[in-house]
Amino acid sequence: MQLIYEGKAKRLWETDDDSTLRMEFKNDATAFNGEKKASFENKGRLNNAISTLIYEYLEKVGVPTHFVRQIDETNVEVKRVRILMVEVIVRNVSAGSFCKRTGMKEGVAFSLPIVEYSYKSDALGDPLINDDYIREMGLASVEDMAFVRESALKVNGILSGFFSEAGLKLVDFKLEFGRLVSDPAQIVLADEISPDGCRLWDLKTGEKMDKDRFRRDLGNVMEAYEEVLARLKARLDA
Ligand code: TMP
Repeated sequence: MQLIYEGKAKRLWETDDDSTLRMEFKNDATAFNGEKKASFENKGRLNNAISTLIYEYLEKVGVPTHFVRQIDETNVEVKRVRILMVEVIVRNVSAGSFCKRTGMKEGVAFSLPIVEYSYKSDALGDPLINDDYIREMGLASVEDMAFVRESALKVNGILSGFFSEAGLKLVDFKLEFGRLVSDPAQIVLADEISPDGCRLWDLKTGEKMDKDRFRRDLGNVMEAYEEVLARLKARLDA
């Protein structure tokens, strides 16, 4: 089957069904817009398992997504979408680029979640944009963005509770949305949800359990991903 897209951590392949694709999770990890690179044995398997578990949960509680089914350890089948070129970041606690931009210290809980957008462009380094940029750049309509913002906040509420029940604080995360090729009026949650694109801190100790372990050379990167998977599984079995 034809490879149709290769990103930093995933590949998309055609399937024999026009309306779906196979999304393959790679072991590669990058940070700082691809400047830092590594490969971790089992990362594809762990992110696929974590993302599948989360997407199945979101579908179960009524969030429309691109997810169809898990195929095997490193592959899922997803509905074909046209990805909106807007990355949606939701923050509950100060960290990462928020602290860099504002000088605020890490770990301050926000009174309400912050939603921010960046233009999905590796060439430009995913710059921060806002609703007015999105409208004028023609990336999405005002109505689409209202839906995207509302959906992102809803997902944040659902996942904050879900992770919390697994002993993890959802500090911040990145979402992507896409328009179904089979029904372009419908915008669904797409891409993956894994420790690559979420900050997850142990609720009790504050220990970082996500890709910051790689970004900041904290070690035990895959051990943390394993632990996230084990806790989410235990939460589902409870
Ligand atoms: P940031 O603090 O670096 O802006 O990241 C916010 C969240 O978004 C964090 O959980 C990691 C995630 N993220 C991605 O998934 N992809 C990216 O390219 C970036 C910059 C962040």
